[in-house]
Amino acid sequence: MNPTRHAAFAQLSALAARPNGRRITPLYDADPTRAARFSATLDDLTLDYSKSSIDDAARDALFALAEAADLDGFRRRLFAGEPVNVTEHRAAMHMALRSPADAGLRAALPNGTDDASTLAAQERARMRDFVAAVHTGRKTGATGDHFTTVINVGMGGSDLGPRVVTEALTIGRTDALMQARFLANVDGHAFNAAIKGLDPARTLILIASKTFTTLETMMNAAAMRGWIAGALGEAAVGHHFAALSTNLKAVAAFGIQPEHVFGFRDWVGGRYSLWSPVGLVIPLTVGWDKFQALLDGAWAMDVHFRDAPPRENLPVLLGLVGIWHVNVLGCAAQCVLAYDERLRRLPAHLQQVEMESNGKHIGLDGAYLDYDTCPVLFGEPGTSAQHSFMQMIHQGTRAVPVDFILAANPDHDRPEAHRALAANAFAQAEALLRGRSAPAGEPYRDFPGERPSNTIMFRRLDAFSLGRLIALYEHKVAVQGCIWGIDSFDQWGVELGKELAAGVLPALSPGAAPGAHDASTAALIAGFRALRGEA
Ligand code: F6P
Repeated sequence: MNPTRHAAFAQLSALAARPNGRRITPLYDADPTRAARFSATLDDLTLDYSKSSIDDAARDALFALAEAADLDGFRRRLFAGEPVNVTEHRAAMHMALRSPADAGLRAALPNGTDDASTLAAQERARMRDFVAAVHTGRKTGATGDHFTTVINVGMGGSDLGPRVVTEALTIGRTDALMQARFLANVDGHAFNAAIKGLDPARTLILIASKTFTTLETMMNAAAMRGWIAGALGEAAVGHHFAALSTNLKAVAAFGIQPEHVFGFRDWVGGRYSLWSPVGLVIPLTVGWDKFQALLDGAWAMDVHFRDAPPRENLPVLLGLVGIWHVNVLGCAAQCVLAYDERLRRLPAHLQQVEMESNGKHIGLDGAYLDYDTCPVLFGEPGTSAQHSFMQMIHQGTRAVPVDFILAANPDHDRPEAHRALAANAFAQAEALLRGRSAPAGEPYRDFPGERPSNTIMFRRLDAFSLGRLIALYEHKVAVQGCIWGIDSFDQWGVELGKELAAGVLPALSPGAAPGAHDASTAALIAGFRALRGEA
């Protein structure tokens, strides 16, 4: 369905075109209960979306649009494990990874179905044993030394999700069970930084790759193998590596021993895989109980998304507010500001979750879309962001909706710092809303105001609330993908660049033929070689 051709969309456009249709402050004047009526909660988690120009009529029209897109049917099909990833003929059943073993979630296969909840629980049990063996020293490096550091080698979803969680649960704490490092980029500088100061004898290396074919990860895995073999001998490799993948054949070829291999199925998308064995670095670093709490938090959001009516459903509401901003008001960007240093990598993870999922221009029917889909997502922790790009959000020419994210209680003993952090989050949202007119003769001090934001607030940032928060965004993406009529679970857009890189690589070797390229690329290749003295 083209959402913009539906009657509900015409109504939304008409509502936005009213004289005050894009203003927010008059809505509070007209309704003193607005803040409560345009908020929704799940336990201690609140989503306040009242700082938007959505009124009752617009909200009803957004629900009508969701109904027209058969959002209910889509949710049912998603949780039934139907192949909602239509271009790859796969289910998107990451929810099974965090479901209880007896939840009964199944995932469609080309011929039959997987008992997804059971399979996930079985692999979780293996992971748990492995983690316990590492922590107790039953499993050691080749020399018998205990592992003290784990390096996660992976890219995209095999890096960002595990990294944001591990960082969020370790920053500022002293109770990590192992030191975690991450190697994603195929860049010798990144490799050198990843191994800097480490004792290979005490280092466990996880090769995280759903496909086990990603060029960067395979090159980094080979380099890590060389590092271990060089220091401890080839026979040590088996002790120091584990693999997290769906491609068990390729893993076997790499030479990783079967009890160090943790698998999952292709009904888990890369950017939804931190809950799978790809997240193994998390329990190794913070302990199994926290990993389980993370899964429980995400599952709480799954159940809420599956069962709550649209008016109370946080992912549905967050998704629809985004549709209002992107498609009705024409906003091209979305900012995420977590007022929490521990969430400093959250925007990077959400960039992949949102932009790889919904950055699409072809609809499910194969036709070009004539309406916008995913906005550009960016963010930084608050308050740091206030001293860099927030200038544009307050005074730029275009409105950029912001999600403010905040835990009410910190886990440090500087309450005054947390109050200052929270005061800034609230004040930024208030400034965006209220604005201020410029004093006479100083037009540059004009704050237009009427700029939208959501506030997402919860009691405390811990493994449970973090799992719930990330799952909130995952399902928001699914809601929007459903309304936009696109496949949120494929990622064909990354293929062409990968293919061309494989073609360019040989041309960068000394003496190699330059190959056939456009004039700019050919000149850049020649320039690169000249600067290296390899022309
Ligand atoms: O290139 C994009 C991508 O396929 C992502 O979707 C994925 O998260 C990442 O590469 C890494 O893939 P893999 O886990 O298969 O190495």
